[in-house]
Amino acid sequence: MQIRNFSIIAHIDHGKSTLSDRLLMRAGAITEREFQNQILDDMDLERERGITIKASAVTVFHDHTYPDGRTERFMLNFIDTPGHVDFHYEVQKALQACEGAILVVDSTQGVQAQTVANAYAAVEVGLEIVPVINKIDLPSADPVRVAEEIEQVLGFPAEDAILVSAKTGQGIDELITALCDKLPPPTGKPELPTRALIFDSIYDDYRGVITYVRVIDGELRKGMKIRFMGTNKLYQITDLGKLMPRPKQVEVIGTGEVGFIVAAIKDLHDVRVGDTITDAGNPAPAALPGYKPSQQMVYCDFYPSGKTQYDELRDAMDRLSLNDSSFSFEPESNDALGFGFRCGFLGLLHMEIIQERLEREFNIEMIQTAPTVTYEIKKTDGTVFRIDSPSQLPDPNHVEEIREPFIEMNLILPGDCVGNLMKLCEDRRGIYKKTEYIGATRVMLQYELPLAEVIYDFYDRLKSATKGYGTMDFDLIGFRSGNLVKLDILVNGDKVDALSVIVHRDHAEKRGRGLLVRLKEEIDRHLFEIPLQAAIGGKIIARETIKSVGKNVTAKCYGGDVTRKRKLLEKQKEGKKRMKRVGSVDIPQQAFMAILESG
Ligand code: GTP
Repeated sequence: MQIRNFSIIAHIDHGKSTLSDRLLMRAGAITEREFQNQILDDMDLERERGITIKASAVTVFHDHTYPDGRTERFMLNFIDTPGHVDFHYEVQKALQACEGAILVVDSTQGVQAQTVANAYAAVEVGLEIVPVINKIDLPSADPVRVAEEIEQVLGFPAEDAILVSAKTGQGIDELITALCDKLPPPTGKPELPTRALIFDSIYDDYRGVITYVRVIDGELRKGMKIRFMGTNKLYQITDLGKLMPRPKQVEVIGTGEVGFIVAAIKDLHDVRVGDTITDAGNPAPAALPGYKPSQQMVYCDFYPSGKTQYDELRDAMDRLSLNDSSFSFEPESNDALGFGFRCGFLGLLHMEIIQERLEREFNIEMIQTAPTVTYEIKKTDGTVFRIDSPSQLPDPNHVEEIREPFIEMNLILPGDCVGNLMKLCEDRRGIYKKTEYIGATRVMLQYELPLAEVIYDFYDRLKSATKGYGTMDFDLIGFRSGNLVKLDILVNGDKVDALSVIVHRDHAEKRGRGLLVRLKEEIDRHLFEIPLQAAIGGKIIARETIKSVGKNVTAKCYGGDVTRKRKLLEKQKEGKKRMKRVGSVDIPQQAFMAILESG
């Protein structure tokens, strides 16, 4: 039997998940009804948001007929990957478990920023790429133009692109034939000592850690004693299987195959994504190269609130980090907010997803502070170190330089939006690099920008400046020194660390004023007047006041409308759940995020 391992990569919404489901259906692994229900995006959150967050690996079989009439059975293992820029790391993990990739491009949209980024990532790890032009059933499809774009921007010959509709199934047989013919088989050796790459894992209450692996050399068998080479832990395989797409038990996962193993692993820390599993009785001399550690770009604090205790939050994060190793967390305490965690994420969307997963999957209630980026600090004594929270900034008298992360951003947009976009980039301290034309009407712009200016609302601004047509992708290029200062916020005279931000000096006053206006909207009136102040190094640069209010909130309602009164009280109760008291002021969750909308 032949084996082919491939990832499906694309720009967001170009149809990867639909295509994966279509491949499953074509191979008889799911029914038409299951196809309609989007079987692969099984996390609630994924379905609701209509995006893929986690890569999932599935196995199907296909009987391939060669031109000479011979048929042979193929095992196709494939991984549906997320498209959003925040999840590059997931994509890269998936790519390393494969020999090939299907690059999906929407025939009505053409090549977009993540099409380019994902194609480069696949080429970088040496994968064979099959370009696919999807959604050809749509009246606005323009496959000829899109094939030309693929050739022009990515260098894959236009005639190699396969035209499909994941929705109707058109072109799918041709695609499967191309996968069998064009993708290289795995190159591992069955006779060598076992080496299996861990590319994912989840925690199951009954079975412990379930580890997803790609076997490179040798094989994994039921009952086998295994060693995790990085953590040096020993276990015995009690169960192994494959997702087809439902879990199915197997006796062996052979060379070049993917599957999952269960080994009664209760300690989450024994399993690390990127680690190598070997045969404890016949160990491999060296581990696989594994993964580069993911780079967290955005940090914020999580504090337990409502009925959630600190320990519950910690356990939930421990478990979630097993399933998503690309976020980090460390204990943090704060005068105002108590004990919590400083957490690092790949981007803003990633942060939102983790927060939502904690709340939904683990029933956690928490307060989250506004995200910031990492800064590199050079002190006057010459020492250089990084901080991931403005509150860690040393005394300004001892700071020689504050360096901030810079990114190289590629934007693809309609030619007539270039002016708007250039203005946006310049407002955000961007440095223009180059312009390239894609076909007759679209342009690829390149800018260098401070990451801090991009993480909040840049994506939304890009979308509105380009009527939804613009797309972006970026890479970190290093730290650069800037004229940066820490802006402190005082609520009722108390400095609230969790509201401090590092900003460019030229923007400090505007940001400070904007932030106070937002805080004034978010913090309810209290029985006393609450002054709000923004300060740099002790000097007040902006102020606002929240006026006091009478004792009874229901006094706001004139007359005796009982239902309205009750509603108001209920609303007030609900709001309290996600609230932190600082000094004598109740600050709601939304206020901690005020910086996001104050720009
Ligand atoms: P992410 O997982 O978020 O990266 O998106 P994706 O690339 O997996 O896209 P998905 O499969 O969720 O498809 C996006 C939208 O396009 C959905 O509304 C699909 O129904 C639709 N779609 C996908 N393939 C086709 C197709 O061949 N024809 C038509 N008409 N619509 C399609």
